[in-house]
Amino acid sequence: MRDVSEVWKSSRLGSVGAKLYDSVIEKESLAVPLSRVIFGTDLRKVYAAMDVVCDVPNGTSILDVPCGGGVTMRRLRRDQHLRYVAADISPVMLDRARKVAAESGVSAEFVEADVVNMPFSDREFDLIVCFNGLHCLPDPGAAIAEMARCLRPGGRLISSFVARGAVRRADAYAATLRAAGVFGPSGTNADARTWLSSAGLVVEKFESSGAFVVFEARSSY
Ligand SMILES: C[S@@+](CC[C@H](N)C(=O)[O-])C[C@H]1O[C@@H](n2cnc3c(N)ncnc32)[C@H](O)[C@@H]1O
Repeated sequence: MRDVSEVWKSSRLGSVGAKLYDSVIEKESLAVPLSRVIFGTDLRKVYAAMDVVCDVPNGTSILDVPCGGGVTMRRLRRDQHLRYVAADISPVMLDRARKVAAESGVSAEFVEADVVNMPFSDREFDLIVCFNGLHCLPDPGAAIAEMARCLRPGGRLISSFVARGAVRRADAYAATLRAAGVFGPSGTNADARTWLSSAGLVVEKFESSGAFVVFEARSSY
């Protein structure tokens, strides 16, 4: 089986899929009905969770990983004074996110990194957002442990992902994407709770909508 992180990183293999995916997710009017059909999901819940980045006090440090083409960053306002770090393994996605920041006039730092080995200090961020990425990784539990390392005590991780075992047609679609090398193994809802507790994160919200889960967890360290 192909290494899913290498596929996303590769400009040759990853860029076509990355651009295709991003051009859908950035258009809510297209992504919402599509995800209802494929995943049985109300994707508006995921977009609503992304709005957290425009609802935090000035001075907040936010890590958006994997940032993809900047769909969460699109929510930032120019009058916010935050430290916003956007990290992804794909140079193609980072370029798209840079364009989003430039067009909307918001400032952000861009970092090419693997989510399981990030160049950040322990406890560096107040908030980490990880939307639609855990199912694209080879080891989501290891990614959550690395994010937990980068969260300050009491800091929050807010995330959404496609869980296994919730919607049969979504499982079939995910299997196709796994075979294509763009989805990793993901996990069930129970697996996700184990990833979080093993990383020292306390679940504050865990909501399923079709195959998608939106969760919020807080660092207990
Ligand atoms: C489905 S996209 C989601 C991105 C974005 N958060 C969103 O909601 O659109 C998955 C992203 O994960 C990134 N990715 C895959 N493996 C990664 C890894 N090991 N480390 C960091 N980013 C990774 C891909 O490059 C891609 O941008």
